[in-house]
Amino acid sequence: MKKIFILLLFMMNISVLSSDDFKFIGKLIDFKLNDKVLTIKAENSNIEISILFDNIIRLRYTNKEKFETKRSYAIEQSFELLTPELKNLPDELILSTKELEIKIKKNPVRISFFSKDGKLINADDESFGVAFDNDEVRSFKKLFDDEKFYGLGEKTGELNRRGKQFVLWNTDHPAFDWNWDPVYVSIPFFIGIKEKLAYGIFFDNTYKSTFNFGASSNRFFWFGAEKGEMDYYFIYGPDVKKVVLSYSELTGKIELPPKWALGFQQSKWSYYPDSEVIDIAKKFRRKNIPLDVIYLDIHYMNEYRVFSWDKNRFPEPKKTLAELKDLGIKIIPIIDPGVKADKNYEVTIKGIEKDVFAKYPDGSLYQGEVWPSWSYFPDFTKKEGREFWGENIKNMIDVGCAGFWNDMNEPAVWGQNFPDIVQFDDYGFKSNHKKIHNVYALEMAKANFEAFNKYFPNKRFFTLSRAGFSGIQKYAANWTGDNVANEEHLRLANLMCQGMSLSGQPFIGSDVGGFIGVPSSRLYIRWMQLGVFTPFFRAHSAVNQSDKEPWSFGDETEHIVRHIIELRYQLIPYLYNEFYNTTITGLPIIRPMIMENQNDDNSYNWDNQYQFFFGENILVSPVMSENENTKRIYLPEGKWYDFNKKAVIDGGKSFLADVPLYQIPFFIKDGSAVPFGEKQLFVGEKKEEKLTFYIFSEDKEVNYKFYFDDGETKDYRKGSFSQIQILSENMKKGKKVLIKILKNDFAFNHKISVVFVNTNKPEEILINNKKCDNYSFNSELKELKIDVELSGKENEILFK
Ligand code: GLC
Repeated sequence: MKKIFILLLFMMNISVLSSDDFKFIGKLIDFKLNDKVLTIKAENSNIEISILFDNIIRLRYTNKEKFETKRSYAIEQSFELLTPELKNLPDELILSTKELEIKIKKNPVRISFFSKDGKLINADDESFGVAFDNDEVRSFKKLFDDEKFYGLGEKTGELNRRGKQFVLWNTDHPAFDWNWDPVYVSIPFFIGIKEKLAYGIFFDNTYKSTFNFGASSNRFFWFGAEKGEMDYYFIYGPDVKKVVLSYSELTGKIELPPKWALGFQQSKWSYYPDSEVIDIAKKFRRKNIPLDVIYLDIHYMNEYRVFSWDKNRFPEPKKTLAELKDLGIKIIPIIDPGVKADKNYEVTIKGIEKDVFAKYPDGSLYQGEVWPSWSYFPDFTKKEGREFWGENIKNMIDVGCAGFWNDMNEPAVWGQNFPDIVQFDDYGFKSNHKKIHNVYALEMAKANFEAFNKYFPNKRFFTLSRAGFSGIQKYAANWTGDNVANEEHLRLANLMCQGMSLSGQPFIGSDVGGFIGVPSSRLYIRWMQLGVFTPFFRAHSAVNQSDKEPWSFGDETEHIVRHIIELRYQLIPYLYNEFYNTTITGLPIIRPMIMENQNDDNSYNWDNQYQFFFGENILVSPVMSENENTKRIYLPEGKWYDFNKKAVIDGGKSFLADVPLYQIPFFIKDGSAVPFGEKQLFVGEKKEEKLTFYIFSEDKEVNYKFYFDDGETKDYRKGSFSQIQILSENMKKGKKVLIKILKNDFAFNHKISVVFVNTNKPEEILINNKKCDNYSFNSELKELKIDVELSGKENEILFK
């Protein structure tokens, strides 16, 4: 008897063990092509494969009987599927699109992706492929020797993620460091590059996920989640650019931000009372340092109650904000999701009445501790939750706020552990915190977005968010969170912004100067210089830390920083045009070397990872070391115009350059036009801004389109914008420049200047066949400047 019992126990134990083991999907049992979707029944999995575009394939695997009926948080639009071409061979099925061959081996089911010319791009590991460990899902992929990995959003460390493992679980970890993981944002999308061919994988799963890019295995890389489906999109390039734009096709592109959001922004935890905010604003003006936005951190609130104003510190917020508006300053207050559990606070009362706070499964309200102490957390996955939030957002706009700074939205609570059992509506699907955690910030930002559209449909606003998930770009910009004033963090700020840019979020920046700690004046200057070339440009500082305003480091630094910020303002027309392009293409503004020069081995060098393109035409090589006055710069093949030194450099080599403290090395690409605006104290200060287009055309011709609109309304959607195009022949040839007015539905200053760099003085200049005397030639700089008044549809400049 005893023996039988022990045997039974032993058997039970075995079965428990085996159910805890990974189950691989086994062989193909049956398949069907049903309504454009290929359905496969395998031993341990159901599989669905569908084709969204010729280069985007969706693969779903489940170990359950049926696929979940679910809504994707990241992909909010639906796509018309393409009809696949299917071949059934004895050992494999082959699905073909115009750009890919997808081979599905039958025993066991393993999938590999080939280019049309037969190159293997990506393949399942032969033995493991997709696996399930109860609820946990994983996909094991063959790892190739030269394969590199990029993207995955806001991650620390090198740009190439190979050899490391990362977790996606939005986390508030102040003063993270080079190896710390995870941080605030989760973007389950990465780019693989094998033999210079790029593909992307977007794993559409919001649960806590892991991506292992060959950390502790030279055989496979894998990604997976603790729950949910193995539901991923395979995106083929082979260009990195195409992978990124395809990803934005799926998860959405940014909306055109208000132009002022591209200006310099100053923050501090916290500026108060109202008189201090006004003093700061006036000081910027008095010192002639451009500024568009001041942030109000948590002290503006009444004991940290969200949507309230402290009566003593800000007795008349509307009046204060109006006064600031007159100075050309916008105000952005911090907004934390936790609503103080104070039954006498009207926002709390309304929230309870409307039943919008997240609850435990027993129906009681969840309370987590944050700044206001114990707080309720709105359920933004519920329409009523977003509407409730939106009404409060509207009230803040009525007071005069121009945008919102969503913080603590991981969601962060003291103790770091928001209980997993807390329930959310999940758009009617009812889920717990495990599924919603990573999308909480996304949905909070969406609440703002919906409120803007509902209450102020023709005005542009700005939301800055700390946390996020794939798709956040549609609703908010991100900054890289609570960094530290040291060199390592200067480098992290650079790489994290590049990582986010590769992952669909173009509107990104860091706390310039470092949130925690005291930067040296040199570090502060170098960080400011990086800030000029990040789409979001804000200096911030933690409570009880040193000030980070431009004047906080003495006169000499102030002088240098003024020029740095002025440079940013001169570049705003160029940057705004890049933003406009992004709204259409989905391509980022910060473009890593591997994106613009994918076929150049040097783009993959560790040393060169800190250089990037700022939009189409500028390559920046920011100085990442506070004490150095020289740095090694690599310029890809071709000719480059060093904007500081006013010299042409032959690329295809690296060289040691002098980088004096007041200069940030940046280079204009051959065949480019770069518009420079006038110096302004804030965006829109000069109503009729005069633009100067620098034209650098050595071996390559210029074809540049430039966009104008009012910068603050959505009238451009109804066609109220203008656009010009500059077409310029190579400078060395005869020489003809055409400036076309493609569209003329928004009034802009038709008087422009065109500066041809590195050129000789022509004998004669004709504009629209008339001799032009309105030019100057600087023989030392070899710069030719012509003033042109655009008219008609086409303006021709001819050099004789
Ligand atoms: C968080 C934010 C930081 C802010 C602080 C106080 O740490 O990341 O930017 O200043 O909270 O609100």
